[in-house]
Amino acid sequence: MKLFLDTANIDEIRTAASWGIVDGVTTNPSLVAKEGRKFTDVLQEIVSIVDGPISAEVISTKAEDMVKEGRELAKIHPNIYVKVPTIPEGLRATKQLSSEGIRVNMTLVFSSMQALLCAKVGAAFVSPFIGRLDDYSETGMEIISEICQIYRNYGYKTEVLVASVRHPVHVKEAALLGANICTMPFSVMEKLPKHPLTDIGLAKFLADWQKVPKS
Ligand code: G3P
Repeated sequence: MKLFLDTANIDEIRTAASWGIVDGVTTNPSLVAKEGRKFTDVLQEIVSIVDGPISAEVISTKAEDMVKEGRELAKIHPNIYVKVPTIPEGLRATKQLSSEGIRVNMTLVFSSMQALLCAKVGAAFVSPFIGRLDDYSETGMEIISEICQIYRNYGYKTEVLVASVRHPVHVKEAALLGANICTMPFSVMEKLPKHPLTDIGLAKFLADWQKVPKS
């Protein structure tokens, strides 16, 4: 499973990328707003750090405007994937952008039927927001299972990008279900390599090594 960082923060991206585990980055307008910097400057910096898909979201809600915005974003770098909301106008825009060879990540997906439509219009990625479903007493992971099954049934090439991830168990469940990609905040990614038994075991090895004669 590919691991993406869900952030527009350059320090976080640099740190996690240095561990060699970041396959791509997803951003959204809220994440970009937190940085207080010009969107295109942030994107230029991200593409210079991570050599993989970098999602950049349109803010228009009419198909023609989304297409115009998407074309401009795609010009920034070949790794840019244009993020488009899953609304009827977004489906139209995605169909057009995909036909031009621009990769689209369809976002704000909360049902497997929305995901079916994303695949039909040629989205490269579909982004179901599982944490936000959990927040409403639904089980977000259920739609990941459904989407993976539906895509398998019909051989759709759209990759399932699990988004709105809140903790490492979400990442584990995404991997067990066979999702293609999981995007997560830095706070979740930094927890993945951690285990207290690793720290205890390492401390013991280092302490015992002191007892080994050095000559
Ligand atoms: O990037 C989209 C998604 O991952 C947002 O997550 O935590 O705002 O629900 P969250």
